[in-house]
Amino acid sequence: MERTLVLLKPDAVQRDLVGEIISRLERKGLKLVGLKLMRLSDELLNEHYSHLVGKSFFPEVKSFMQLTPVVACCWEGTEAVNTVRAICGITKAREAAPGTIRGEFAMSVQANLIHCSDSLETANAEVKRFFKSDELFSYDDVLERYVY
Ligand code: PPS
Repeated sequence: MERTLVLLKPDAVQRDLVGEIISRLERKGLKLVGLKLMRLSDELLNEHYSHLVGKSFFPEVKSFMQLTPVVACCWEGTEAVNTVRAICGITKAREAAPGTIRGEFAMSVQANLIHCSDSLETANAEVKRFFKSDELFSYDDVLERYVY
């Protein structure tokens, strides 16, 4: 079982797509094990996007991610990292496949609605970066015994 980080970026919040995106991930069968609104600090963004520090668009990435609070989620499931990436579609949203979240709802490389972890190693580090251990939950399907 894998866990992966998803950030619903400020454009998802501004465009009222938070419910739609969470719903798609839920309906796929992924399990929501962590969820919160966060304002992202300079310090957190410098760490999270450290691989982009030398890129010309780095300052824009940071300012964009600070426009509104973001929704941080942790999703769990078998091969959750690649499954979430497939549902989200590629970074350059204009070219994302129809049926993916970005393919359906976004036109931009930056305002592409979602950040999702790109490998299991990254996911493990990113989940730790955004969630304390007591903000993540393990739970079973408990409804079966209430079907009467
Ligand atoms: S890269 O270029 O391969 O290192 O890119 P990647 O790891 O996919 O992450 C890029 C993140 O930066 C945001 N961004 C841009 N990427 C590419 N080109 C331009 N011009 C650009 N502007 C912003 C992009 O949305 C990715 O954000 P995350 O949060 O990782 O999805």
